[in-house]
Amino acid sequence: MYRQYSQQAPIIFGCGAITVLGEKVRELGCKKVMIACEPGIETAGIVDKASKSLKASGIDYVVFNGVKPDPTDEIVDKGAQVALYAGADCVVGLGGGSSMDTAKAVSILLTNPGPARKYIQAKPIYVDTKVPVILVPTTAGTGSEVTRVAIISIPELNAKWSVFVNINLAIVDPELTISLPKQETANTGLDAFAHAAEAMTCKNWNHHSNILGEAAIRRIAKNLVTCYNEPDNLEARTEMALAANLAGLAFNDPITHVGHAIADALSCAFHTPHGLGCALALPETMALVAPAMQEPVRVIASAMGLHLTGNESGEVLGKLVADSIRDMMHAMNMKSLKEMGFTREQIVDLAPHVVENHLSSYCPVEITEKTAQELLARVYDSYM
Ligand SMILES: [Fe+2]
Repeated sequence: MYRQYSQQAPIIFGCGAITVLGEKVRELGCKKVMIACEPGIETAGIVDKASKSLKASGIDYVVFNGVKPDPTDEIVDKGAQVALYAGADCVVGLGGGSSMDTAKAVSILLTNPGPARKYIQAKPIYVDTKVPVILVPTTAGTGSEVTRVAIISIPELNAKWSVFVNINLAIVDPELTISLPKQETANTGLDAFAHAAEAMTCKNWNHHSNILGEAAIRRIAKNLVTCYNEPDNLEARTEMALAANLAGLAFNDPITHVGHAIADALSCAFHTPHGLGCALALPETMALVAPAMQEPVRVIASAMGLHLTGNESGEVLGKLVADSIRDMMHAMNMKSLKEMGFTREQIVDLAPHVVENHLSSYCPVEITEKTAQELLARVYDSYM
């Protein structure tokens, strides 16, 4: 059996990596950068670090700080207007997944006619872009710096759709994640876990993704709760930054599956943060797929440091992994859906949205409306 693993772009990894941004923009032959970010990235002083590097290399820049969580096509259009007006010839996504996804989508509109909505589809298409895209994460979770997908919300359809673009460079500087608040550390860290675990158990898994996913989960199991308890622990932050990057590399080809479809449904219906939705869905997603994907779930359990005899059934492996993820969630004080005020019925009613999400088609278990309802009920009931 043969399977494809697609390599995307170079990665510069390590503390202080942000200082090479200007030099790398110059090497790409660009003269003016648009930085896409959320306002909080500016107030945290992270834009200053990027602009200092750009100035040192004689690169002009403009900041678009209008990115919001779950960015919409309208935000992409606004960002593109800023970039076009400034004459930007390079886009930098600086922040979490929302900023990086916005930067990717903006790059389309610098050489293709708008609006953004023309290119963002339920089943994503690839759009050729000519403007370099550099991605600089400030969370350890999304992995968006190494994936070609940009996920954009379409409010009038109450949906999250996507587009594929070229990316040119990832700069991963763990020091940029030190200021990440505790709950975002927990949410984004378990998003990274979900990327790795769903890639490994996806219908489209590939050999490289399994190795990358295992390496990511090993680091997350060892370091995520430490990052939550000791935000300034640079060693743990560095391991988590590496883990999120590895998990991003892992899921670029296989994509993710039903756990992320649930997170999208929660996000569209209730604006639940993406990472939190992924975390809440993850234990029962693993329990659902374990009988069909026994060996990868065994690898996940082993990477988590769970004691195994080697004779466990898929069901047992799924339960062990699910329980262990829930332990991590409790250790980081993550609230249950009930504690957040949702009723069981509200969650089960999301089933049609989970079924129609293209990600569900990559799940090794067929996701019918009944399966989705039962899964959502277990997601609600099993974490209290
Ligand atoms: Fe994700």
